[in-house]
Amino acid sequence: EGERTYLIGGNWKCNGTTESLTALIKEFNELGPIPANVEVAICAPDIYIPLLGEKLRDDIAIGAQNCGVNEKQGAYTGEICADQLIDAGVVWVIIGHSERREGFVMAGEDEMLCAKKLKVALDKGLKVMFAIGEKKEEREAGTTMEVCAKQLAPAAELLNEEDWANVAIAYEPVWAIGTGLTATPEMAQETHASIREWVAEHVSADVAKAVRIQYGGSMKGANAKDLLAQPDIDGGLIGGASLKADFFNVINGAP
Ligand code: G3P
Repeated sequence: EGERTYLIGGNWKCNGTTESLTALIKEFNELGPIPANVEVAICAPDIYIPLLGEKLRDDIAIGAQNCGVNEKQGAYTGEICADQLIDAGVVWVIIGHSERREGFVMAGEDEMLCAKKLKVALDKGLKVMFAIGEKKEEREAGTTMEVCAKQLAPAAELLNEEDWANVAIAYEPVWAIGTGLTATPEMAQETHASIREWVAEHVSADVAKAVRIQYGGSMKGANAKDLLAQPDIDGGLIGGASLKADFFNVINGAP
């Protein structure tokens, strides 16, 4: 532990307007200092990224929630590519969020597509929060780690060892997202430890030691401290609570 800095990401998902987000940014800017051992990023809807660039405090990095698999600009209607995100000031991007894997509005993104996007984003110079996690029926069937391994395997295949320096794994049990049902700290720790073990076995011991594994799923000020105290929980990816001042209670919950 010790050597890994905490990574707290806010995932605003498809929320906000210029007016509401301007007010939220102002609120965040006035909240206290961010502890030195915590890195913070906010992943906004693409159209509000310039708003963050213009208004958000400098000690919070700008993030996006997706990026195109296309390596270059071109005839890809509706897509935004990694170079364009970087051009807009983006540092971090979430790839593989369950809401995209499952496909709410379009065909879902499969494991290989997520891994390809991950590789393209890294090659272009972005840092990635790579999201994985099991559904309720999978946890109940005892296949949690199988599901996570299946989501990680194509990434391990496409990435070289240096690539991993710019990856954080966001473990988000799907049943805990937006439901108010958080995994208990013990439950989350157990899965985080298994994920780290998997990385040690399939990537390398060095990468396993260095890679940050964030927890996501109904994390908020009230439960952040207990989650972040676990040895293999190196941060969070926060949805609902990142749209409120409570986000700073999560940040300040890091040991
Ligand atoms: O990416 C963060 C996320 O899916 C968790 O959402 O609202 O349960 O914190 P929420």
